[in-house]
Amino acid sequence: MNTLDCLVYISRARLNATERQDHLADIVKVSTYRNADAGITGILTLQDERFIQLLEGTPAALDLLMLHLHFDERHEDIRIVARDQIPLKEVTGWSMISPPQGTPPHPQISQMLAAPPPAIYPWRVAMKELVSMPV
Ligand SMILES: Cc1cc2nc3c(=O)[nH]c(=O)nc-3n(C[C@H](O)[C@H](O)[C@H](O)COP(=O)(O)O)c2cc1C
Repeated sequence: MNTLDCLVYISRARLNATERQDHLADIVKVSTYRNADAGITGILTLQDERFIQLLEGTPAALDLLMLHLHFDERHEDIRIVARDQIPLKEVTGWSMISPPQGTPPHPQISQMLAAPPPAIYPWRVAMKELVSMPV
């Protein structure tokens, strides 16, 4: 049986303020159908000049996506801060979701960016809060 992993990475956005929302919308659009094909689900946000993405899927599917992401020039300094095996997907109903435009920065995520916790749980709680998903 395939196991499931959840990972969270942080990267530095290489987008100026004017193009940011358009790029984010593009990324979510492409990710929605590509992730559905790959059996990946996740949450993506852009806060304090960083992308933070939580991804769930088989280890092989996540490794392949991470490889692709390294070639995407819209970000750099990609760093996986937490990764663990999970029994079940927590993000359901979406292959990729992002908070609505205008959502204020999540204070706890700003703190976590300063000192990234190595455990998945605090990221999952904060990221789900951001998209108003029950924790
Ligand atoms: C921050 C960030 C997150 C992304 N997340 C995903 C994702 O979850 N799934 C995905 O397929 N592409 C994602 N992409 C886009 C990929 O890097 C890539 O552009 C896309 O998969 C299309 O690949 P292709 O041009 O090789 O067809 C993301 C890009 C960025 C910058």
